[in-house]
Amino acid sequence: MEKVYLGIETSCDDTSCALYSRRAGVIIQKTATQMAHQDFGGVVPEIASRTHMKTLLPLYRHVLREGGIGLEELAGIGVTNGPGLTGSLLVGLSFAKGISYGGGVPLAGVHHLEGHILANDLEGGLETPCLVLVVSGGHTQILEVEQIGRYRFLGGTRDDAAGEAFDKTGKLLGLPYPGGPNIEKAAREGDPGAYDFPRGLINSGECDYSFSGLKTAVKLQVESMGDLSSSDVSDIAASVQEAIVDVLVRKAVLAAERSSAERIYLAGGVAANGRLREFAVEMFQPLGVQVSWPRMEYCTDNAAMIACAASYRIEAGVTDGMELNSFPRGELKSWR
Ligand code: KG4
Ligand code: ZN
Repeated sequence: MEKVYLGIETSCDDTSCALYSRRAGVIIQKTATQMAHQDFGGVVPEIASRTHMKTLLPLYRHVLREGGIGLEELAGIGVTNGPGLTGSLLVGLSFAKGISYGGGVPLAGVHHLEGHILANDLEGGLETPCLVLVVSGGHTQILEVEQIGRYRFLGGTRDDAAGEAFDKTGKLLGLPYPGGPNIEKAAREGDPGAYDFPRGLINSGECDYSFSGLKTAVKLQVESMGDLSSSDVSDIAASVQEAIVDVLVRKAVLAAERSSAERIYLAGGVAANGRLREFAVEMFQPLGVQVSWPRMEYCTDNAAMIACAASYRIEAGVTDGMELNSFPRGELKSWR
């Protein structure tokens, strides 16, 4: 019988449940994005965990009903157990442990970053060895994937993540939260060359990133201008996006030059950015390196990627028991 896996993702402000199988791919996914945080310009941890508490059970019931499968028929349950907000993680983790115990279904705790990487495996299949540039609200890392389950860290950010840089500069420009998609939208009307914002560590010779200088430069620029017209906002947004994308891709090129991998995958919420995708193709094509990314709904936080990651772990016999705990931060380690 076809093995169907349930994924649960509650690490931040999206509550998501999905059913996935290797053969059929994503059978059904349901994600509830919490809107309450918009009024605060960022995620409020207590609101996030309380909202997961309300939303998770109805989402779970919905996907099982629509997927036409009972709990006991599942081949496994995957749940994000870190990194993320502790209260949010514990809601998903406690729920997953409860149904795993009650239904006698194997459980696998999934590192959120491995989920983002394997979002590229949901449709089409992740071909290894490869490089992955993971760019989200919490992570900016370049990894080499020897095979699924074996990861080598090549470089990452020393301070803010790329998504955080988008969100913080978006806030400085008075754009709604989250900043990333709103900066991309505003940037469409703007001139990316209008402001020369810093590209942190661009000449370091390493695959490392720093975005804190960019945030300060944008803050000083905005303060020096007083009231911003909509064309000012568009020009700053386009210039910010260009600075972030430029350094993201150039460091990834450095990693590719030092690796024998012939393909690179983008992953994480920032991989939804059109300019990032476009510039990555422009830079990697002459090197003969193929660039791919997940479909839009699998770039940002989703449970299908967690179910997919769990399927590999469980099929390799790597499962977790009722002692599984959450962790707020921590590197992705190889498990194979
Ligand atoms: O992967 P994700 O949903 O959550 C984390 O694991 O952090 O990523 C969220 C991040 C946010 O910082 C958001 O601003 C950014 O992804 N993001 C974008 C775009 N869509 C989402 N950044 C740039 N351009 C976008 N179109
Ligand atoms: Zn994420």
